[in-house]
Amino acid sequence: MTEISNELMDKLTKICLCKGISRATIKKAILNGADTVEKVWKESNSGNGGCKGKRCGSKIEELINTMKKQEENM
Ligand code: FES
Repeated sequence: MTEISNELMDKLTKICLCKGISRATIKKAILNGADTVEKVWKESNSGNGGCKGKRCGSKIEELINTMKKQEENM
């Protein structure tokens, strides 16, 4: 996949379905220093929808871990 389509997919993919928060917004929160699920929720105004973070929590945790690994490999 090209860089542009990755970016587009990040914008189109919703991580927090209750609040309609995209993967792009979640990634931005992580890049801004949010290194736990709770911090990402706070920074991106997600995790406080109907399911109280049950559906997005594990996806966010996965994303934090993936991004940490990518950073270590740089
Ligand atoms: S999916 Fe994020 S609060 Fe429900």
